Amino acid sequence: MSGAKYAVGTRLLHWVSAIMIVGMIPIGVIMQQEGMQRSTQDLLFIMHKNGGVILFALVALRLIWRAASPAPVLPAHMPAWQVKAASGVQWGLYIMLLVMAVSGYVRVRAGGFPVEMLDAVNAPALVPRSDALAEAAQTIHSNARFVLVALILVHVGAALRHAFARDGVFGRIWPPLGRG
Ligand code: HEM
Repeated sequence: MSGAKYAVGTRLLHWVSAIMIVGMIPIGVIMQQEGMQRSTQDLLFIMHKNGGVILFALVALRLIWRAASPAPVLPAHMPAWQVKAASGVQWGLYIMLLVMAVSGYVRVRAGGFPVEMLDAVNAPALVPRSDALAEAAQTIHSNARFVLVALILVHVGAALRHAFARDGVFGRIWPPLGRG
């Protein structure tokens, strides 16, 4: 067993972003279905686009935080390959979340569409209006989700295995608040 836990801020950020990611993926797929009421579809698009911007900020914050306060060491009983795999999957998740958020933003802005929370503070579009760019970003956004989902499945599968084994690894990131 290991007593080393992530700081409470890191744990909270982890679980808030996890809930948002789990919501963003089905919303992204469902909002494009035909035959839905226009007002429902608009609401889902608003939730997805603005949720994606918030998620981008949370991921950036987590990366800054992580650079400032490194992860606690893993229990000594974990084999080296598992330590390497866990770290690879975590970095893969960070990268794919950034890819998803940036490609989503570019797809929307280059397509000439609003991002309501950024428009509310008059944030300028960071990319030019271009159908070709919007289409390329859409292709990336749509395909990158498969890599993201695969990484999430590996990450959650490993986390559950540790939780059931009660080997001290899951307890590093749980509970979201307090000492547990
Ligand atoms: C980490 C954050 C994000 C995740 C996990 C995510 C996930 C997804 C998924 C799974 C889809 C469905 C793709 C498909 O059916 O082909 C989708 C579609 C979409 N997403 Fe995201 N997304 C994220 C961020 C964003 C952001 C920041 C924006 C815009 C500001 C955005 C705008 C869109 C749009 C407009 C679509 C519809 C596809 C299209 O017509 O281009 N997404 N997203």
